[in-house]
Amino acid sequence: MLIAQISDSHFLAGGKRLAGRFDTGAAFARLIDSLERQTSRPDLILFSGDLGEDATVEEYAAVGAGLRRLGIPVLAVPGNHDARTPMRAELPDMLGVTDTGHLCLLEERFPLAVIGLDTLVEGKPHGELCPARLAWLKATLERVAGRPVLIFMHHPPMTTGLRHMDSMGLLEGREALADLVADHGAVEAILCGHMHRTIQGRCGSVPVRVAPSASHQIAFDLRPEEPYRFSTEPAQYMMHLWQEGAGLVSHAVAVAPAE
Ligand SMILES: [Fe+2]
Repeated sequence: MLIAQISDSHFLAGGKRLAGRFDTGAAFARLIDSLERQTSRPDLILFSGDLGEDATVEEYAAVGAGLRRLGIPVLAVPGNHDARTPMRAELPDMLGVTDTGHLCLLEERFPLAVIGLDTLVEGKPHGELCPARLAWLKATLERVAGRPVLIFMHHPPMTTGLRHMDSMGLLEGREALADLVADHGAVEAILCGHMHRTIQGRCGSVPVRVAPSASHQIAFDLRPEEPYRFSTEPAQYMMHLWQEGAGLVSHAVAVAPAE
């Protein structure tokens, strides 16, 4: 099973530029074009949040149209720049929704059960897993007991050393998440975004793999007093290959320029 993971497109409509620099709408078009020309066609696409920059209906309509053009199933969870209501309006085919209105999902069609976690606190940059979302996750992991599981979410449940980004990381529910995935015993990995860099770590005993941005990256700088800043590193996405017995292998792939 081949899974493409897209993260942090921060799509802006109408050719607007993020931070005056990045034409994220054009970057998204290049991404879709690159995925379309991939020699290995993914079975599934996961979008780990920050689909849009301003969370408008217009942004989600354009993102949805681009993704649907690929003809590959897409599952998405919100990031801190997203908003649930316009996402639900434009991307109903890509989302799950819990009884408490959170955009968490379970996909059981594949050999690997896929769980998406909504870590959004609307209007805030940090993320959380509140008691309601943790209760949903506990029940969902019980439902897929004994099966290999892949979890994806926006905010990484770990400290990365990029201090300013960590201060807007997953601030609530991290230990409870570590306990739940340990109890399940067959969570292959937790895939995240938010950091705009490729980063590996763990949550308890489970690997955490952070995807780079499909548009623009954040500079590697561990000085604690430094605010985050953007870099000119290329747009990328992940290709996760899952093979029975071998587990999950993750490749970072640069968005190929159009020939
Ligand atoms: Fe984010």
